[in-house]
Amino acid sequence: MLTKQQVFDLLNKVEDPFLHKTFEETGGVEEIKIKEEKNHVSVKLAIAKTNTAEQMQLQQDIVNVLKREGAATVGLRFNQLPDEVIQKFQPASEQTQNDSLLNGNADTNFIAVASGKGGVGKSTVTVNLAVALTRLGKKVGIIDADIYGFSIPDMMGVEERPVVRGEKIIPVERFGVKVVSMGFFVEDNSPIIWRGPMLGKMLTSFFKEVEWGELDYLLLDLPPGTGDVALDVHSMLPSSKEIIVTTPHPTAAFVAARAGQMALQTEHEIIGIVENMSYFESKVTGEKEYVFGRGGGKKLAEYLKTDVIGQLPLEQPYEEEEVFAPSVYQEDHPLGREYRNIAAKVIDNFQ
Ligand SMILES: Nc1ncnc2c1ncn2[C@@H]1O[C@H](COP(=O)(O)OP(=O)(O)OP(=O)(O)O)[C@@H](O)[C@H]1O
Ligand SMILES: [Mg+2]
Repeated sequence: MLTKQQVFDLLNKVEDPFLHKTFEETGGVEEIKIKEEKNHVSVKLAIAKTNTAEQMQLQQDIVNVLKREGAATVGLRFNQLPDEVIQKFQPASEQTQNDSLLNGNADTNFIAVASGKGGVGKSTVTVNLAVALTRLGKKVGIIDADIYGFSIPDMMGVEERPVVRGEKIIPVERFGVKVVSMGFFVEDNSPIIWRGPMLGKMLTSFFKEVEWGELDYLLLDLPPGTGDVALDVHSMLPSSKEIIVTTPHPTAAFVAARAGQMALQTEHEIIGIVENMSYFESKVTGEKEYVFGRGGGKKLAEYLKTDVIGQLPLEQPYEEEEVFAPSVYQEDHPLGREYRNIAAKVIDNFQ
């Protein structure tokens, strides 16, 4: 016959399936009753999430343990743990998730760069923000998660391919930024016709099978819009933050709002809005022309309750003979300086 104390000791060693902490730590054992005549044990447990597959599994495990130790029948009831307890242990569990994604890189901050529409400059922003963060002394990586429309290698002028060492892919480094892209793994720019599950798998291997080393920031260039891959990435990275890129055109901002909503639905904090192609400034007169309209970034920021962290005019990087990187703005370029300001704001956001 089991005593209450014995049941309590047994249960205290079991882990909450979501927080990965024992019931002893979470104080999850709420009540134990024993009916001696029937040798029936009934317990009330509080866990982080109820009515899930994990709860079913836990139920079975506990019934097995208690029966093995002598109970004839077992009754279980579940409650939700108080929010304070969940919050107390939650950050650790999110870290573990990021941690396992990157094999031990628990301090890496994820930044997903998203947009509603294609062609608004999402990849350009990803590349230049990464380079600007590196210029500020940070260790940075980019995952070109735009599996179909990969463009990062070309934009940065990456010509070499990653090497595989053991079972790990060593990312290519350019301007101090480590890069992995689908573009490295297709021949001759041929189109990719993989579907759903394959895509998710590819992305997972970009995290797990790549030797990222120590990183402060890992930027993800998401595919445009709110399709499957974007959603996959959103849900794969529980603690990622996001930057939304839009042009100043009201329609673009309206479409970008959907990408923003998707971020919020997956509980990703939005760092801010980058309004790209904000205006064209004449070199001759210094006059600004708002070729793609005006105010889209501000409107979007208001809608998503965030800030505009940069407004980038239309301008190409300086042409350079020795360095080929068609989309990287030089440090002393006006846009290079603008990206530096954005990078500083991003760093602040994580402090
Ligand atoms: N501020 C800018 N000034 C001039 N050209 C720009 C600027 N920003 C982006 N571009 C150019 O606009 C084009 C689209 O940019 P980019 O590829 O970064 O957009 P994207 O949102 O990633 O597009 P896609 O949806 O195709 O992935 C590129 O040719 C890029 O060089
Ligand atoms: Mg792109």
